[in-house]
Amino acid sequence: MTPAPSGSLLAATGLRKAYGPTTALDGADFSVHPGEIVAVMGPSGSGKSTLLHCLAGIIRPDAGSVRYGARKLSELSDAERSALRRGEFGFVFQFGQLVPELTCVENVALPLRLGGVRRKEAEQQAMRWLERLEVAGVRGKRPGEVSGGQGQRVAVARALVTTPRVIFADEPTGALDSLNGERVMELLTEAARDTRAAVVLVTHEARVAAYSDREVVVRDGRARDMAGARL
Ligand SMILES: Nc1ncnc2c1ncn2[C@@H]1O[C@H](COP(=O)(O)OP(=O)(O)OP(=O)(O)O)[C@@H](O)[C@H]1O
Ligand SMILES: [Mg+2]
Repeated sequence: MTPAPSGSLLAATGLRKAYGPTTALDGADFSVHPGEIVAVMGPSGSGKSTLLHCLAGIIRPDAGSVRYGARKLSELSDAERSALRRGEFGFVFQFGQLVPELTCVENVALPLRLGGVRRKEAEQQAMRWLERLEVAGVRGKRPGEVSGGQGQRVAVARALVTTPRVIFADEPTGALDSLNGERVMELLTEAARDTRAAVVLVTHEARVAAYSDREVVVRDGRARDMAGARL
């Protein structure tokens, strides 16, 4: 097992995860530095989402370890892991996964509200992110009343509102047309660079991976660094 590279913010070594007879991860190593955008590519079923979920502490690997800063995720309690996910990680998935009953501004304010920020202050901050993502106009609408592209921008705003140290994005533009996808990627990567957040970006699309600093290819549950080489 190779040791985690020094200076990395989030690093995993030797991750293994099986679902019954299916091996999803088979000794995957991964690391990302503060401010670095890493694209995780690879065929369908190769283990990309499983890797992201292990890195984010959403699922527990069968073997191997994940280190965030000086802390090992496996040594944290469930409550500590949830606090980490809420406070220091941001998530964007393929289909925004916004709360349908809440308006867009309430959705973006939600992570702050859960962290104890008062409604007025939380919604002010949420509005700043909606403006930045160019969707201030949908503030009062519910997710069911906005377009896919608008909803995804709202989801990005929600992921960024807590200024997370790591942004996990799993096919964030997978449901968007190419123009919308490019703009969402521009806004996401600009915001990440401004806040020096690390980004773990799972994508099938070379066009999307082009926004990254580095590419990692997952095949059969193992991750291989492309060392800057574009596919
Ligand atoms: N909850 C689960 N239960 C059973 N098998 C699962 C589960 N999640 C993933 N798998 C299996 O583990 C393997 C890796 O899945 P994973 O979702 O990580 O792939 P992926 O690279 O993200 O694929 P895609 O590009 O299609 O999203 C696949 O064979 C998948 O069928
Ligand atoms: Mg996946």
